[in-house]
Amino acid sequence: MRKPFIMGNWKMFKTTKEAVSFAKEFKSLYHKSDVKVGICAPFTQLAALSDEFYGTGIVVGAQNMHFEESGAFTGEISADMLNEMDIEYCIIGHSERRQYFNETDDTVNKKLHTAFKHNIIPILCVGEVLAQREAGQEFNVVKSQLKGALLNLSAEFVSKIVIAYEPVWAIGTGKTATPEQANEMCGYIRTVIEELYGDDVSENVIIQYGGSVKPGNATELMNMEEIDGALVGGASLKPADFMQIINF
Ligand code: 13P
Repeated sequence: MRKPFIMGNWKMFKTTKEAVSFAKEFKSLYHKSDVKVGICAPFTQLAALSDEFYGTGIVVGAQNMHFEESGAFTGEISADMLNEMDIEYCIIGHSERRQYFNETDDTVNKKLHTAFKHNIIPILCVGEVLAQREAGQEFNVVKSQLKGALLNLSAEFVSKIVIAYEPVWAIGTGKTATPEQANEMCGYIRTVIEELYGDDVSENVIIQYGGSVKPGNATELMNMEEIDGALVGGASLKPADFMQIINF
């Protein structure tokens, strides 16, 4: 049985002061154990959030990491640095990183291998752009992203990762995929994982939907059979909104 997992992605929002104030309010509202909950925050907020959420069960994740162990990569963060802060999760291959920072299936694959070595659970993002959906290419695009990202990774590791289906046309646009569209693609992702790794793995892997998830649409999305959780951008910035989503 897969436990629902709802993760916030703060992107480049909130100072540390704002993050701490969010955390204090959010943990005072939080009392649910049948849904796993977390926040992926900017690097500078990770330590403060880990402290605030210590002992609450609310997990903290990063939004990116480099695939190299260390080196002359100005501005980058390594897996070791995340390990030292006990950061368990990291978003990898978000469409904004693919779009603005030249992330490719190859760099995503390298990052997943590094995450594996460091016991970091990746939230692997996949999803098509609007033109690809309009051309009927969405399934091919997502399958090829998955195959590229997961190249040479073990079944044991893949059974523990989180995959987020985030159609790029639904991110930050207010235009959510319909529950049927989201469910269909999450189900398709599970069949691709089954083809690549077999039943056991595909039954365990958590598949989230992301793209304009809001308090008003969380229930119908979360009630779909193939959707195990959500990756929430804008609506995770306010404690009350995010809490409403968690209480779907
Ligand atoms: P929004 O929820 O703001 O559309 O962002 C989705 C997203 O990109 C989460 O990673």
